[in-house]
Amino acid sequence: MQIQRAPYFRGVFTLPGDKSISHRAALLGAMAVGETHVRNYSSAADCAATIACLRGLGVEIRRVGTEVRIAGRGTEAWRPPSAALDACNSGSTIRMLAGALAGRPFRSVLTGDESLRRRPVERVAAPLRAMGATVLTTDGKPPLTVEGGRLHGLVYDLKVASAQVKTAVLLAGLQAEGVTTVREPAPSRDHTERMLPAFGVAVERAGLSATVRGGVRLRGAEVTVPGDASSAAFLVVAALVLPDSEVRLDGVLLSPTRIAFVEVLRAMGGRVEVRLEASAPEPVGSIVASSSRLQGTVVDPALVPSLVDEVPALAVAAAFAEGPFTVTGAAELRVKESDRIAALAEGLGALGARVRELPDGLVVEGGRPLVGARVRSQGDHRIAMALSVAALGAEGTTEVEGAECVAVSFPGFYALVDRASGRA
Ligand code: S3P
Repeated sequence: MQIQRAPYFRGVFTLPGDKSISHRAALLGAMAVGETHVRNYSSAADCAATIACLRGLGVEIRRVGTEVRIAGRGTEAWRPPSAALDACNSGSTIRMLAGALAGRPFRSVLTGDESLRRRPVERVAAPLRAMGATVLTTDGKPPLTVEGGRLHGLVYDLKVASAQVKTAVLLAGLQAEGVTTVREPAPSRDHTERMLPAFGVAVERAGLSATVRGGVRLRGAEVTVPGDASSAAFLVVAALVLPDSEVRLDGVLLSPTRIAFVEVLRAMGGRVEVRLEASAPEPVGSIVASSSRLQGTVVDPALVPSLVDEVPALAVAAAFAEGPFTVTGAAELRVKESDRIAALAEGLGALGARVRELPDGLVVEGGRPLVGARVRSQGDHRIAMALSVAALGAEGTTEVEGAECVAVSFPGFYALVDRASGRA
């Protein structure tokens, strides 16, 4: 994909449904009894993978564009898959589905693409084994074999804040005997906890713990998915770093567990306004961002779980800022769809930014004009979008190799960029 410097970035947009919430709506709908109707289901390839895996278990799902209807017959109706379930590029699919399958008395094999087969799954296997399931990994990575059965509840302390692992344990807990509590070291996204009550399931929450009771039946629900908060971050950064720019994003998910990037951008001097319009079951509203002079900052490591997917966008903002920007406590970035610390250092470095890798984060020096170059997405959708936004502010032409992977989370990204920069 060739990208030229953009004169501005402007417009009012609504974004496709949030990827994290869409996965959960499909999974809970497949576990429930009765119809689940999901509106504004994400267009991400990752969320299509979740639907495909659930169909592989015999769940009847009809999808017309962004409308998804799931004819739920409970997990008892799930059938052993006739082939391996392919989560493609989606870590959320493989980890959360493993939790739901831990309660099913048959064997399933879960796999994914080359990138997913390099990512850690032992973190989800360990608690599911402790609950009584048989879970085999391939040296701690997919393919993963889950043979479920009678589970018992447990109190599980997560070693790293991971919403995927937390969700997996809760979904297993719903099928276990007794009570299951998950405690996390820092708050991660809480979409599962917020969505379960709509499916008729009580979740007890206290501080950093969430508790569910086993043996309860989920009933089908209506879910409207807000616009994707992580996709929003790239567009907000584009508006901040380009001249004469302003974007308004309507109907966006404003969960505090997802929009800590706004806090960081404001600390950098970014003009970003958030207008809350509804607060249940998830906070939703608009984000408005306009051209700003940015300075570097030091990101509080305690915020990292709430902005983990937005570090690539923040690193781009940092490349256009004056003075150093530092993020630490983000070692998880090394085991995402790519090693995002290395990928950002390489890509932004090629465009002329000074980026230093740390074992658990990075330092962007800022203050150097970017110049178009050939850069690599490394097959990672968020790296492709980050480098593309950087390219919009770089002199000349940038070639982003492998840019088609943006479809993993945001297939309409380049069409929106063209509209916002007056090219379509
Ligand atoms: C997600 C949780 C995060 C995030 C991922 C989506 C989720 O991963 O990076 O993109 O939907 O629960 P971890 O749970 O591994 O931190």
